[in-house]
Amino acid sequence: MNHNASTATARLASVLVTGQRPSRLQRHGRYTPESIRHPGKMLPAIAATVIEAFTRPGDLVVDPMCGIGTTLVEAIHLGRDAAGVEYEPDFVHLTVGNLRHAHAQGAAGTPQLVCGDARNIATLYRALEGRAALVLTSPPYGSHTHGHIRSGRDNGGGKIDKRHHRYSTDRGNLAHQPLPGLLDAFGRILAGSATLLRPGGLIAITVRPIRVKGELIDLPGQVIDTAQGHGLTLVGRYAALLAGLRDGGLVNRASFFQMLETRRARDRGIPACATAHEDLLLFQRASDLPEAAR
Ligand SMILES: C[S@@+](CC[C@H](N)C(=O)[O-])C[C@H]1O[C@@H](n2cnc3c(N)ncnc32)[C@H](O)[C@@H]1O
Repeated sequence: MNHNASTATARLASVLVTGQRPSRLQRHGRYTPESIRHPGKMLPAIAATVIEAFTRPGDLVVDPMCGIGTTLVEAIHLGRDAAGVEYEPDFVHLTVGNLRHAHAQGAAGTPQLVCGDARNIATLYRALEGRAALVLTSPPYGSHTHGHIRSGRDNGGGKIDKRHHRYSTDRGNLAHQPLPGLLDAFGRILAGSATLLRPGGLIAITVRPIRVKGELIDLPGQVIDTAQGHGLTLVGRYAALLAGLRDGGLVNRASFFQMLETRRARDRGIPACATAHEDLLLFQRASDLPEAAR
């Protein structure tokens, strides 16, 4: 690990206490209400913690799959510059609204944003080659996510229904790729993003295990293999809490559908648990590290 990274990692405990407030409250007043449309947002406290720990004011932070712009918003609030790519025009529109809102609240950093395919990030942001201190991102895990519920009270007495649980119907969105295709594309995105890193720069990825047809898939492990296949070395691994911590215990913040799915899995004899954390994986380019650390 180089000096920058080791100094920074020493500043973080292995468990990041990022779920003390529910996601809804973390976003309240800081993000536009329409941002709820996005089905798989990063907790703002995770983005802010990572950016604060691994960058300094004036540094550049990049998110190649920026969704509604959580990484960008938290970066500019912390006086960092930010650059994002997002495939879906609707989410780009939401990011623009969130960045405007952040500036209106005094955020000092300068953001830039492109609507496009992050597999081409090295070309889309050629001007930023070698400049980023940090790439912070998370991959989409499948077209169906947990979404939000609308109860009979909200929809005129109908059944409980589910909203905001799909990324889009565009097959080009990587959320629609089966796992091997998603990992292949994510690898290309990581390789392209790595060209934007300055020497010693870091790539941080939040990811959690997923269940596909009841089978538990070690997505963090597969992301590590993919990143290593693209010249990156794992230099840190943390648990970023989605749950709260109170009186030495966890405060469950799993959604209605996560709890329902967990219960159904248990009814089928699968020892499932609702997720209480995301893995935060930290990488550096192997070529930036001494040979013994690659
Ligand atoms: C897990 S979400 C990221 C959410 C983001 N961290 C936030 O807090 O809003 C992954 C994002 O990747 C986007 N995406 C999917 N395929 C893409 C591609 N080829 N290029 C860029 N973005 C893509 C999805 O539309 C989705 O918004």
